[in-house]
Amino acid sequence: MAKKSIAIAADHAGFDLKSKLVEDLKASGYDVQDLGTNDATTSVDYPDFGRAVAEAVTSGKAERGVVVCGTGIGISIAANRHAGVRAALCHDETSARLCREHNDANVLALGARLIGEVVAKDCVRTFLNTEYAGERHARRVAKLG
Ligand code: RB5
Repeated sequence: MAKKSIAIAADHAGFDLKSKLVEDLKASGYDVQDLGTNDATTSVDYPDFGRAVAEAVTSGKAERGVVVCGTGIGISIAANRHAGVRAALCHDETSARLCREHNDANVLALGARLIGEVVAKDCVRTFLNTEYAGERHARRVAKLG
């Protein structure tokens, strides 16, 4: 079965973690669209990268998105300003599972300055492998629209 297509982007604060996640996702066979930024030293604005992933997901170019900034807060706010995006800021694997099961999150936001590489990779793996539970959650998720 074809692996999901993933759009991923970060600002300068999230660049290093994004690079490691891209490497990992590619090694796992995902179709990865890396939408930048491309270095950790040039200061950029996280809303631009949140928007890039939001547009990739809402246009159908990517099935899921991953966004990274220093805290994950700014870039998750940015992504969530786009209709159809349900971005979840997660700091642990349980949140990454529950944002899929309960909220049908389609974008995972991570804070590179707050969590380590191993936790971030666990979050991404769980986010991509967990199905939405639907049923009692469906009415609530529909209201988010
Ligand atoms: C950049 O210094 C930092 O403000 C940004 O990465 C993020 O943490 C904002 O929410």
